[in-house]
Amino acid sequence: MKGLNAVLQEVAERLKDNYPYGDPLYAGQMLKPPHAVARRAYEMALKINPNNHALDGGRASSAMEKEAVAALAQMIGWDIHLGHLCSGGTMANLEALWVAGQLHPGKAIVASTQAHYTHQRIAGVLGLPFESIPCDRAGRMDIPALERRLAAGGVGTVVATMGTTATGAVDPLAAIVDMRRRFDFRIHADAAYGGYFVLTDNLTDETRLAFELVREAASVVIDPHKHGLQPYGCGCVLFHDPAVGRLYYHDSPYTYYTSSDMHLGEISLECSRPGAAAVALWATQRLLPLVPGGEFAKGLAAGRAAALDLYRRIRADQRFVTGAAPELDILVWAPRAKRMSDASALSQRIFDEAAQRQLHLALVTLPVHLIDVQEMQRDRDTIICLRSVLMKPEHQAWADKIWTILDAATTASLAKR
Ligand SMILES: Cc1ncc(COP(=O)(O)O)c(C=O)c1O
Repeated sequence: MKGLNAVLQEVAERLKDNYPYGDPLYAGQMLKPPHAVARRAYEMALKINPNNHALDGGRASSAMEKEAVAALAQMIGWDIHLGHLCSGGTMANLEALWVAGQLHPGKAIVASTQAHYTHQRIAGVLGLPFESIPCDRAGRMDIPALERRLAAGGVGTVVATMGTTATGAVDPLAAIVDMRRRFDFRIHADAAYGGYFVLTDNLTDETRLAFELVREAASVVIDPHKHGLQPYGCGCVLFHDPAVGRLYYHDSPYTYYTSSDMHLGEISLECSRPGAAAVALWATQRLLPLVPGGEFAKGLAAGRAAALDLYRRIRADQRFVTGAAPELDILVWAPRAKRMSDASALSQRIFDEAAQRQLHLALVTLPVHLIDVQEMQRDRDTIICLRSVLMKPEHQAWADKIWTILDAATTASLAKR
């Protein structure tokens, strides 16, 4: 076609303006390259361009979605479930909290101060009250504070974050589940980031227990486009009680359900959705089954090992201060300085110096109590920290190189001070 090559050439040029997300020295935000099998299966399905709203729009891809979602439900220990894929964690949480709101109308949704910011926004969209529960020093929901709030009444749903976005902290689900013996509330587990860690063997006992108890939640969100090796546009919401399907009932006259089998559009807030995303996920799970000790699980454990390795090195270095040991594969730390404002400025400089040396980190602003700032003057309530998401299996082998560059970038930043 005339002009096609020229346009694609232009696209290729435009796409050069990016960070090297697939490189092991990209250790900044939550970005993990999709697996080759996911990319290829997606491309194959794209030739058909199925729509998983209705079986009429994608018979094979709908069947594959049901199988792929069932495998995710099995992974957390559910034999029965209702669930489907969607565009990502935010949509999946919206749907879970919409169901929660239908079942507990007018009651509050509570989540920790470190929960993803979209929970509050979602509650606003749903017209439900939202309240934040403070966190302990490890960035986990503070249980005595939650207990006090539950005792005051009016809480419909507690969101437990299984891996916070900023630090990878895991809310103490055992204590939250235990509290259901005294208070009547629903648990929603936002495991968008951390969900797959239920498969790994190198968590602390406490974190492991929390993941084992995800099965006690009423609804769970897991994002295959974060740790599940999928291209963006792949989140998943799961409900333990399939009966919530009744809440989705509609009698739209123009929805084209021509068979009596269950159409995914009948249990989803969204209508049209890419069947290709389901095909890619199905193929990935076929190649890399979601089993403890399997290749996929080992990949997650390798990222966590990298985070622990770097944490030990940073902690042993007097130039830095840290927060609690990482629970998953996300690490935060800050340079030691006289005042917290100086440390924040220095974090920015180290971030820039590291980027000049091809090591791409991230920055995060944290409340001061999450970092052991020691003798630093607390001239502000927050501190800008360096943050690294070590979510690629290769990060384990590259930990030494990452440390060497961080060391050089820190030395250069301190010299310029
Ligand atoms: C814990 C958690 N929940 C929800 C989200 C939102 O997910 P998405 O960006 O896929 O909408 C994120 C994203 O980072 C997250 O970390």
